[in-house]
Amino acid sequence: MALINKAIFPVAGLGTRFLPATKAQPKEMLPVVDKPLIQYAVEEAYAAGIRQMIFVNGRNKRAIPDHFDTAFELETELENANKRELLSLVRSIKPDDMECIYIRQPKALGLGHAVLCAQCVVVNEPFAVLLADDLMVGKPPVLKQMVDQFSEWQASILAVQEVPAEQTKRYGIVAGSPISDRLMDLTHMVEKPAPEDAPSRLGVAGRYILTPGVFREIATQPRGVGGEIQLTDGIAALMRREKVFAYRYEGKRYDCGSKEGFLQANVELALDHPELGATFREYLKALEI
Ligand code: G1P
Repeated sequence: MALINKAIFPVAGLGTRFLPATKAQPKEMLPVVDKPLIQYAVEEAYAAGIRQMIFVNGRNKRAIPDHFDTAFELETELENANKRELLSLVRSIKPDDMECIYIRQPKALGLGHAVLCAQCVVVNEPFAVLLADDLMVGKPPVLKQMVDQFSEWQASILAVQEVPAEQTKRYGIVAGSPISDRLMDLTHMVEKPAPEDAPSRLGVAGRYILTPGVFREIATQPRGVGGEIQLTDGIAALMRREKVFAYRYEGKRYDCGSKEGFLQANVELALDHPELGATFREYLKALEI
């Protein structure tokens, strides 16, 4: 039975919605409370049993490999100062059994193209895709829920949630026939349709488990919405050959690709933070907004 051991993180986007913050650093390095977005996504993949992390990088993204690399000078300083807790915090960013692989996406041709760039590493295994600007909070973590579904069905699985009708233009929208409360056997998938063209209100969140057959489909798609090679179009084509399921995940998604979602994530995760939570709650109450 196939297991999921590889995750692709497309991180080559320009992050224009967060300028000027993203002028010299990738949007995936923006911190929510005290951790960069990419670290939340990598931790989620690790918690789902994945050990090979494949980052599809663009230009100006040095900060991501640096974040997951050994920081020799920092570690030596912390060791000399006997700051044990900080030292183990820094070392825990990349556990010893985790492997990081970096691939360059030479041109920003879209999400489908980014995934295709990782084909040479993934080859013939099923794999996960995580979009780090969707911060997912779930117990168990959302990707773990999906890996459990994959163990049962051995087919591609997309995380979905209901979205307001006026927001279908922001998502890949799916339709199909329900199998259970949380699972749907898909027949349709459209990228960013207008509300009147949307086949449902189920939008894809940035978590996918895909079979390697999707590479061939992506490679033969014409440019889609926005002139980009869309992952959605590749998955829609895959549906004609293999089963693809939508899974209504248990948990919460913060759209950290938008300023509003990013701020919500910061407030809610700060309220939940073991050190900051209590005093931050008092602070918010005192604001009397
Ligand atoms: C991408 C996908 C879209 C998906 C969304 C989830 O869009 O193309 O299908 O619903 O992520 O966040 P983006 O947000 O990168 O425009």
